[in-house]
Amino acid sequence: MTPPPRPAHGEARRSARLEQRVLSLADFEAAARRRLPRSIFGYVQGGVEDNLTREANREAFVRRRLMPGTMKDVSGRSTAIELFGRTHGVPFGIAPMGGAALAWRGGDLALAAAADAFGAPFILTASSTVRLEEVARVAPGAWFEIHTLSDRDRLAAMADRLERAGIEVLVVMADVPVLGNRENNQRIGFTMPPKPSLRLMLDGLGHPRWVLGTAAATLVRDGMPHFENADHGIRAPMIARSQPPMVRDRPSLEDLAFLRRRWKGRLVVKGVLDPADAARARDAGVDGLIVSNHGGRQLDGAVASLDALEEMAASVSGLTLMLDGGVRRGTDVLKALACGARFVFLGRPFMFALAAAGGAGVRHAFSILKAETARDMAMMGINRPEEMAARHIRAAP
Ligand SMILES: Cc1cc2nc3c(=O)[nH]c(=O)nc-3n(C[C@H](O)[C@H](O)[C@H](O)COP(=O)(O)O)c2cc1C
Repeated sequence: MTPPPRPAHGEARRSARLEQRVLSLADFEAAARRRLPRSIFGYVQGGVEDNLTREANREAFVRRRLMPGTMKDVSGRSTAIELFGRTHGVPFGIAPMGGAALAWRGGDLALAAAADAFGAPFILTASSTVRLEEVARVAPGAWFEIHTLSDRDRLAAMADRLERAGIEVLVVMADVPVLGNRENNQRIGFTMPPKPSLRLMLDGLGHPRWVLGTAAATLVRDGMPHFENADHGIRAPMIARSQPPMVRDRPSLEDLAFLRRRWKGRLVVKGVLDPADAARARDAGVDGLIVSNHGGRQLDGAVASLDALEEMAASVSGLTLMLDGGVRRGTDVLKALACGARFVFLGRPFMFALAAAGGAGVRHAFSILKAETARDMAMMGINRPEEMAARHIRAAP
């Protein structure tokens, strides 16, 4: 863990304001809505179609209640937890998210540095605009996520590049054989990558802090952002009329097994919900899974992450199970651990925190969730996150 950089003057002021105004992760959403153009805010917040699965992720947490523990000495408690040979300061990290550069200049780096300051993993997505080598320098515990398995030469080249950069955990995104029906993006005029349009310009005009602080600052200081880590090997500009096609709909278990042989670090598959798929991934040599429905951004009506996790933990052994989707409170972190997760990830709350106040915002998000988790652990009567177990959960009446 590298010590957090000393905040610049503007950052210190931003941090003080944040501490007064943002008391929970939910508060970041309102702050991000104020700063971001409507289309970019909608891209982050939205799910697909009727948002059934995005909402189901939250409901699954609400449906479960905690059984607190009393008369226990919890004075020596710690949120630290071991995962894949590293001790992390907290049992949660940042899920892979494309588009961080739209929220804040150099967004991927700000997310990575904030996670590192809390000893938490940040998963850099292949659709990122900061070179993975630079991210690994700022955050040596960062993970990397690839989006395709189809080209073995490229897989091998990427495995070598990651190894040279010192990345220890490689994540394979499994739940985007095709892009989900992001109808909400169409309604609000958002395309990924963003295409310059009159509508986008007018949207920006209503949000001058974003236009000056993010869009103009990026273009003037860094030039046009490019996808620096695309696993299909093409360094495309982020804003373009068209993007190179990506084949994602024919990955096979043999491709995964090939990657397993080629990649010496830990291998994780993200986006698995079905226990039968989990068993197949384990048999291909995968170390861990992130049980996830992509935050409700792929198949609308898919099962909630927490429900899938509980089912998977009961029927599949020999894998490190992690979860993302709908985690917003320390109590949610503990519920997920009780349902069988070793670790959890959050997406939108960290992106909203980034959009609201850059690195200071993401660090504040980490402190809020860490404080909640530590406080809730005391009331649960536990000293270590891994003490959470099925006996701590009841179904809501
Ligand atoms: C703006 C945005 C971009 C995302 N991009 C990716 C991505 O590139 N790869 C991926 O596997 N998941 C991606 N996701 C899904 C997240 O990794 C994660 O599964 C989801 O956000 C978790 O749900 P939560 O937002 O409720 O915490 C993205 C999510 C958001 C909000």
